[in-house]
Amino acid sequence: MSEKIVINEVGLRDGLQMQPVFVPTARKLELARALREAGIHSFEVSSFVSPKAVPQMADAADVFAGLPALAGVDYWALVANEKGYERAIEAGAGKVGLVLSVTETMNRRNINKSVDESAAEYTRILDRCARDRVQNRVYLAVAFACPYEGKTPAETVVEWTDRMLTAGAGEIALADTIGAGAPAQCEDLLALLLRHWPAERFALHLHDTRAMALTLAWIGAQHGVRKFDSSIGGLGGCPFAPGAAGNVATEDLAFMFEASGFDTGVDMAGLRRAVGVAEAITGLTLGGRVTRFLQSREPDTH
Ligand code: COA
Ligand code: ZN
Repeated sequence: MSEKIVINEVGLRDGLQMQPVFVPTARKLELARALREAGIHSFEVSSFVSPKAVPQMADAADVFAGLPALAGVDYWALVANEKGYERAIEAGAGKVGLVLSVTETMNRRNINKSVDESAAEYTRILDRCARDRVQNRVYLAVAFACPYEGKTPAETVVEWTDRMLTAGAGEIALADTIGAGAPAQCEDLLALLLRHWPAERFALHLHDTRAMALTLAWIGAQHGVRKFDSSIGGLGGCPFAPGAAGNVATEDLAFMFEASGFDTGVDMAGLRRAVGVAEAITGLTLGGRVTRFLQSREPDTH
């Protein structure tokens, strides 16, 4: 049997969070359904953050309420403070991701706290996760580069990985938040981390701003990483930050791994349909780099 890759679809959260026009809850659920039908079985559904900071995620509880409980399908909630954790649990989320930016400026801009203050709050949340039997992951945002502080030293990532795993993190998702990582950097970072911890403790969350995301994902896979975040059609990116791009497209990531003999569980035709739903609900033209090739194999589309 071929080795499994878990594709965690983050389009509903990372992909949509900066979309200026509010996508109604029913349409978010429609996208989730299309993705499930395509075989996606891990989702970052929404974030329980301040609706003033991110109005698009204001309906997080409603989105969770609208999702069917299905065996083998994981729904994750992103939280950034204890209030968010409490809202997530109340909404029935059984898995939470905590986002910690490893540079002071980014953490301050994102969640208005120093990295140490957030780490202290997350340590309390991780204790609660253990008591509440809630699975968790900790995102280390700007693990490759920070838009304000430049390239992130690998030692900084090692330090925060250590602190968060010691505090009870289930896994560490290394996030290239602005898509500025280079292959050699990814190679060095993973080699360093894997001297201390096994690859099962890590996931990669990659953005494709500089067209490096697939390469970094492949380097991750070569190092034994099996969990990757992506967003359908490459949805995401901030319309107010020219050049910022979305997450690596789910269809590109799935195609790469399937072509290499891994089992992602997803079906490419289903993903193509999900891209159509994502386009319909956002009004954007979407699609990864494999789109044209896939279209050329769909006789009914031309
Ligand atoms: N959910 C909903 N509301 C929240 C909240 C949460 N998790 N945390 C705080 N709030 C509310 C407070 O109740 C308060 O409301 P009020 O103004 O009506 O009294 C207000 O937000 C300010 O609370 P405070 O604790 O002072 O937070 P802050 O202003 O320092 O903001 C965050 C901190 C974390 C809430 C905010 O920066 C945020 O939501 N950031 C998320 C950013 C994000 O999602 N980034 C993308 C994902 S990486
Ligand atoms: Zn992201």
